Amino acid sequence: MKRICLVCQNVDCKNRGSEEIIRELQQRVSEKGLNDLEVRPYMCFGACQEGPNIVLYPEKSWYAGVKKEDLDEILAHVAGGPEVKRLDTIDSSLKDLIYQLLDSGVF
Ligand code: FES
Repeated sequence: MKRICLVCQNVDCKNRGSEEIIRELQQRVSEKGLNDLEVRPYMCFGACQEGPNIVLYPEKSWYAGVKKEDLDEILAHVAGGPEVKRLDTIDSSLKDLIYQLLDSGVF
């Protein structure tokens, strides 16, 4: 199964820079040849005040308040490195809800 990196592109995350984040991620993923990872826009994760929000699936890692400077660490995680714990700040009940949606195939 292809791994997916979902980047919220709704209003609040966009206002905090998520358009640049998704562009940068798509470019770096292709430069690094991470062919098993697809970077895709997502409609909204419901944590709008804490964005830009990124979810890796099926890993189920959620990174909040992501800045361009964080992308190296996130990509290192994607490539097999450790999770970026300091960006894992979202309440677990919201995470579980979104992961259930993703598990049921809603992208
Ligand atoms: S606007 Fe990004 S989580 Fe809602």
